Amino acid sequence: MTDVLVMALPGNEALAQLLAHRLDADLGTLETRRFPDEETYVRFRVDPKGRSLILVCTLDRPDPKFLSLAFAAAAAHDLGAASVGLVAPYLAYMRQDKRFHEGEAVTSTTFARLLSSGIDWLVTIDPHLHRHKILDELYLIPNRVGHAAPFMADWIRANVQRPLIIGPDVESEQWVAEVATRAGAPFRVLRKERRGDRDVEITVPDLGEVSDQTPVLVDDIISSGQTMLETARQLKEQGLAAPVCVAVHAIFADGVYAALQDVAALVATTNAVPHQSNAIDVAPLLANLAQDLYAATRGGQAQGPRLGRAVPDCRGGR
Ligand code: R5P
Repeated sequence: MTDVLVMALPGNEALAQLLAHRLDADLGTLETRRFPDEETYVRFRVDPKGRSLILVCTLDRPDPKFLSLAFAAAAAHDLGAASVGLVAPYLAYMRQDKRFHEGEAVTSTTFARLLSSGIDWLVTIDPHLHRHKILDELYLIPNRVGHAAPFMADWIRANVQRPLIIGPDVESEQWVAEVATRAGAPFRVLRKERRGDRDVEITVPDLGEVSDQTPVLVDDIISSGQTMLETARQLKEQGLAAPVCVAVHAIFADGVYAALQDVAALVATTNAVPHQSNAIDVAPLLANLAQDLYAATRGGQAQGPRLGRAVPDCRGGR
């Protein structure tokens, strides 16, 4: 992929380097800084003219990141890039996908429109799909959606003895079953009801018959961390061991990582969002998807097979 140029938005340098290596592509440098008035400055240090540019920008805490990304994508087009793709392992604004209360903004739709207007294609991992079953319902540009389940399963198999895989809610059963099968482990799913941004009610079934196993809580995202914290609390009440917590997207709002470390035997996440808990490398998955989409886009077959799969949310809220 010699015409391909990979560039990181700030904070994504490590992943961009892994991707460039896997894609046998050039790695360019993007200079960004803030003016004193806090406006954003962006400059290409490598000329993207005629190149197929891949920007790497995971979109956790998206508001401060979005403008830099939009400016970089627009500048790349201005400077004559042949195409501008985006690898955003975590895709933001997927949760407010309906108007739960009168007058609310349906931000998933607006964000998709804004992001799509600047880029030619999109690769992401395990986006939080709920009421929209596939990403194409929101994003009208060519896209590929990857799933970290096999990578998480392989990590569990290699690092946890006698694992019992536990999913957060009944809707996650299919996904959790996939992880469990590949990890060669039994699984159970919980019942969850979200009552507020940081308030979840978890019902854990009786785990007496598997109480000698190591509980492994598997989720697509740790955001407020309340799902895992509450589950860990209830497992302890039932006399189970401290759980291993495994997630795709390490958001960890409000410094909840420390609280989780206190109750978990281990916390392991993928590098979809850079974090000290990253232990599972999903760069190979992202590289394959980017390569596939790049080839399809160049061959005019960008509407090729979609790999999207719904990741169910909790009831009654984002
Ligand atoms: C919900 O359906 C998701 O799979 C996660 O369980 C949820 O987003 C985790 O959120 P939190 O960390 O805020 O409990």
